[in-house]
Amino acid sequence: MSIEQVISEWEGQVGCVGFDHETGAFFSIAIHSRALGPAAGGTRAMRYAGFDEALRDATRLAGAMTLKMAIAGLPMGGGKSVIALPAPRNELSEATWRRILEVHAENLATLAGQYWTGPDVGTSAADMDVLHERSGGFAFGRTEAAGGPGSSAPETAHGVHVAIHAAIREAGFDDLEGRRVLVQGLGAVGYDLAARVAADGARVIATDLDAARCERARRELGAEIIEGDAVLATPCDVFAPCATGGVITAGVAAELPARVIAGAANNVLDAPSTADALARRRIVFAPDFVANGGGGIHLVGREVLGWSPDEVAAHVEGIGTTLSEVFELARHDGVSTERAARMLAQQRFEAPIAAPAAPSASTGRAAPALAE
Ligand code: NAI
Ligand code: PHE
Repeated sequence: MSIEQVISEWEGQVGCVGFDHETGAFFSIAIHSRALGPAAGGTRAMRYAGFDEALRDATRLAGAMTLKMAIAGLPMGGGKSVIALPAPRNELSEATWRRILEVHAENLATLAGQYWTGPDVGTSAADMDVLHERSGGFAFGRTEAAGGPGSSAPETAHGVHVAIHAAIREAGFDDLEGRRVLVQGLGAVGYDLAARVAADGARVIATDLDAARCERARRELGAEIIEGDAVLATPCDVFAPCATGGVITAGVAAELPARVIAGAANNVLDAPSTADALARRRIVFAPDFVANGGGGIHLVGREVLGWSPDEVAAHVEGIGTTLSEVFELARHDGVSTERAARMLAQQRFEAPIAAPAAPSASTGRAAPALAE
């Protein structure tokens, strides 16, 4: 897909694109919507086959952030940063990575608060410390040592766990005791989620490209480890995709031997219409922008709305109520759960919008909204 195609098929703005000659990294910041507040979304740093693919990922992920913020009732819009790395993250020297963060921070500063970033695949709370300091404050999710609320991953895992429980009830079973839960990706969110479902008595099946993470899950959680290419053919009660997106295509939806899909991976469907094929097979799908909202609730709740950790946790529990509404609307209107969730998110744009509280770079707390 050409860059022209990526941009012309998208309704948002590309806030920034760039290339750093010193490191060979390509940068993009996609801003999908600022209707509910400044755009927010994490920084993803990984290898891509080409910059067109990276930019397409940024635009699609930014769109998912708009839906996520809207359905969670948060006063932010949707955006995303994607950095296409010159080599796998674990092969970059500290100096190269530091330089990449500094260039990204300059890009954030240029946008002057139209877009706020946070952690995502390939970036951590410690990286947010650097981005916050060097951009003039436009990064959520700094370490507690640096005055931030820490990683978004634990509350994301909490929310996905809540979503799994809502979805299994919709599928007709009440608990996870003895159920097979397949976790794809044992990173910051996936490992935490695997530990939570193991504590529920589930039989954890897991896979990751990183053998050490698999070994840890086998040792600590008693997980059965499977090869990556066996994931979509392994029977399970719950499939929890926690790696990258695009895993469920129409072909996969027609065959997947699972009863429930609920995970953290953003844009897990290759296209919204793929959810129709899941609905036809009565596979209960928890839309990812609802299920994985816990991280955004943590970051925006703590840093913009001034919530305590307990208030954040209570809002994350609310993901279960939102999903119940999604399932009920899907049943009532005879549409897929993805479609129903999009309809619910859309209602936030149709309701009269009170002036959104935009964060201030210096404090991270609410300040007067930016002029649109
Ligand atoms: P992470 O980078 O810590 O972990 C991702 C893991 O997936 C890594 O262990 C990696 O080796 C593994 N992986 C990658 N491709 C794989 C494949 N094909 N098969 C098996 N394993 C594979 O990322 P994190 O933070 O855990 O995020 C996971 C997903 O959740 C991402 O899609 C992210 O966008 C999404 N998400 C994360 C949030 C957060 O707060 N960290 C919030 C909402 C969504
Ligand atoms: N990257 C995470 C997500 O996709 C967490 C995040 C939320 C980061 C909001 C920045 C802003 O939800």
